[in-house]
Amino acid sequence: MAIRISPSVLNCDFSDLKGELAKISNADWAHIDVMDNHFVPNMTFGIPLVEAIAKISPLPLDCHLMIEQPDIWAPQYVEAGGSSVTFHAEAAQAPLRLARQLRAQGARAGLAVKPATAIDPYLDILDEFDMLLIMTVEPGFGGQSFISSMMRKVAKTREAVRKSGLDVWIQVDGGVSRDTIEIAAQAGADTFVAGSAVYRAADAAEEVNVLRDLASGHCH
Ligand code: DX5
Ligand code: ZN
Repeated sequence: MAIRISPSVLNCDFSDLKGELAKISNADWAHIDVMDNHFVPNMTFGIPLVEAIAKISPLPLDCHLMIEQPDIWAPQYVEAGGSSVTFHAEAAQAPLRLARQLRAQGARAGLAVKPATAIDPYLDILDEFDMLLIMTVEPGFGGQSFISSMMRKVAKTREAVRKSGLDVWIQVDGGVSRDTIEIAAQAGADTFVAGSAVYRAADAAEEVNVLRDLASGHCH
């Protein structure tokens, strides 16, 4: 199983996005956290900045939309340059229709669930998604502690993906670090978001390598 590291730029130095993105060019994706101050109690940036990031990023953009009304907005993040666009199950009016639309635009379609949201209803329609994002913190802020009880949800999702024979990626996001990435990989995650762990490290690129090695040692 391939391991993917997707550092979140949420806690990087926004005054030097180009330099901050260059630091993680050995990762697989750049994770872009879009927050609207409605779906989550925090606000980051929207379409114009994602468009600008897409122009300078050495990595494809993994856009995580923590916003209301993704049915209206998510397609515009594909147009802005998102190669993968993940919206929240709690916010989407018609998750299936939206996933199909994102795919029709040529992007990977991801579905995210907050810690208290069940993944079960979506395991029957796995073929509609390219990635399931199991949040390991309540979305909204970087630097929070990993909720390890989410590993049951990850394991259940891995089992369903394995049975389906599909190549649906399983992402974890929130509190992923040297201390937690191994249990997430062991539970069945293959795509790892890490914000503060990477950007607070003395050497971001080296931290990406360490995280990748730790996860690789434990994947199924
Ligand atoms: C949280 C965001 C995460 C966050 C991760 O709402 O979706 O992507 O930036 O940051 P860390 O790794 O610091 O928890
Ligand atoms: Zn995120």
